Amino acid sequence: MEAPKQTPTSKAGDWRSYQRVILPPVRDLHLLDVALQNGAYTALEKILKEGWERKRLVDEVKASGLRGRGGAGFSTGLKWSFMPPDKPGQPRYLACNGDESEPGTFKDRQIFEYNPHLLFEGMMMGAYGIGAHTAYLYVRGEYADYISHMERELAKAYAKGLVGKNLFGTGWDCDIVIHKGAGAYICGEESSLMESLEGKRAYPRIKPPFPAQKGLWANPTTINNVETLACVPLIVHKGASWFAGLGAPKHPGPLLYGVSGHVNRPGVYEYPTGMLLTDLIYEVCGGIRGGKKLKAVVPGGSSVPVLTAEMCEGVTMDAESMRDGGSMLGTAGVLVMDEDVDMVSFLRRTTHFYHHESCGQCTPCREGTGWLEKLVTRIDEGEGNLRDLDLLISLCDNMEGRTVCALADAAAWPVRWTVTRFRSEFEAKCKPSLVPSGFVSPETLGEAVADPGYVLSD
Ligand SMILES: Cc1cc2nc3c(=O)[nH]c(=O)nc-3n(C[C@H](O)[C@H](O)[C@H](O)COP(=O)(O)O)c2cc1C
Ligand code: SF4
Repeated sequence: MEAPKQTPTSKAGDWRSYQRVILPPVRDLHLLDVALQNGAYTALEKILKEGWERKRLVDEVKASGLRGRGGAGFSTGLKWSFMPPDKPGQPRYLACNGDESEPGTFKDRQIFEYNPHLLFEGMMMGAYGIGAHTAYLYVRGEYADYISHMERELAKAYAKGLVGKNLFGTGWDCDIVIHKGAGAYICGEESSLMESLEGKRAYPRIKPPFPAQKGLWANPTTINNVETLACVPLIVHKGASWFAGLGAPKHPGPLLYGVSGHVNRPGVYEYPTGMLLTDLIYEVCGGIRGGKKLKAVVPGGSSVPVLTAEMCEGVTMDAESMRDGGSMLGTAGVLVMDEDVDMVSFLRRTTHFYHHESCGQCTPCREGTGWLEKLVTRIDEGEGNLRDLDLLISLCDNMEGRTVCALADAAAWPVRWTVTRFRSEFEAKCKPSLVPSGFVSPETLGEAVADPGYVLSD
C-alpha cells in the first residue's frame, strides 16, 4: 500500500514570534558604546577569564550544529578541529570572508552596517578556537562605506582595549586587520582570497593542501564567512543547546534570508533556519508584486539550481530539504521571479556574469563559460537551434567537477537546471529546424549530412 503523502511543514517553529539576535532591533548598535550596553565582547571576556581550553570552545561550536553560512554549509566546529597541532614559532591565522559577490547575496553587509562589534567579537573567538592571534577581515572593495565605518569602530575597540594586546588582563592577544578586496567574484573563493590577501592576483590554489595545512603565507589558516563568525558569541552567550534547538535540526540556528526580485517587500530577514520557502515569499515578503503568479525561485544565490513554482511547495530553507527538493541552500539569497520573466533572458544575464568572472586558469572554465554565454545569447536572439540545448548540457558535463575551484560548477548549474526545468521556453526561442534534439555525435552528424532529409541549421 502506498504511504500517505506527508504535508511538509516549517521547521522554524514559532517563527512569527522570533526575537532577532544577529541583527537585534537596537538603535545605533553599530556604535561601540551602544554595543557595550547590549553585551558586546562579554562572550569573549567569559571564555578568556574562565580560561576555557581551546578545545572546549571548538566542542561547544560543534555541539551547536553551526554550519558555514558562506554557501557550502560545512560544520564550523569540525572545520576548526582540522587545524594541526601548534608548532613553536609557526603563526596561524583566521580569515573572515566578507567578499559577498554572489549575485542575489547581500546579507553580510547588514552585519557590517548594523552589528560590526558582534562580528569583531566572533572573529576573535574564532581565532581563539584555532589558536591564532591575527584575524583578517576581507571585505569586497565595493563596500567602501562599510569599510570606513568598520575601521572607525575597530579603532574605538582597540582604544578601549577590547581588541589587541592582553585582552581583559588575561595575557591573550588578538589583532584584527580589515582588508579591502579589489572587487572580483573569484576573491570570495577561499584559496584565492588568501592569494589576494597576500597581495597577489586572486588565482585559486589547487587543493590539497587545504588551508588548515597550508594557508596564508603557507601557515595553518581557517576561513569562515561573516555570518558564521557572528553566530559564535551567541552560542557562548545562550548555549550550544539553544542554538541546536533553533530551526532545522540538522542545520540549526538563526539565518539571514536575503530576498530579492519580484516580491512586495524584498530585504534581509532574520529567522530560524528551516522556514517554508513559501512562508518566506508570501508571508514575510508580502507575496508577488502586482498580484502576479510565481514562476521560479533561485533559493541560495545565483549559482544554485532554479526551482519551478511547483517545486517551491513544501520545501524548507535548510540544506537537507533543499537538496531533496532539487536545489541547495547556498547563501540563502532568494531570487524570486514572477510569471513575466523570460527564463532565457534570465539565463543569458547569469552566464554573462560567470563568463566575466572566470579567472581563466582552467580550460573547461575559461572556454566553457564563454561557450555557455555565446550559446544562450544565440538562443535568446532567436538564432539558436535545438541542438544547442543538448550542447549546453554537454558543456556542463565537461565543466562540473573538472576544475581547480568551484566557479565552473557555479557557472554550469544554472545552465543545466534552467534549460532542463524550463526547456519549452528555450525550445520556443530556437529557430525551427528539422534536426532532432539529442546530442549530436560525429557519427550522427555524418548521418545527418549524408541524409538529404536532414537540414542542419547553422
Ligand atoms: C567562486 C566562489 C566564490 C565564493 N564567494 C564567497 C563569498 O563571497 N563569501 C563567502 O563567505 N564564501 C564564498 N565562497 C565560499 C568560500 O570558498 C568558503 O567556502 C567559505 O568562505 C567558508 O566559510 P563558511 O564555512 O563559514 O561558510 C565562494 C566559493 C566560490 C567557489
Ligand atoms: S574554475 Fe574557473 S575561476 Fe576557478 S580556478 Fe579554474 S578558471 Fe579560475
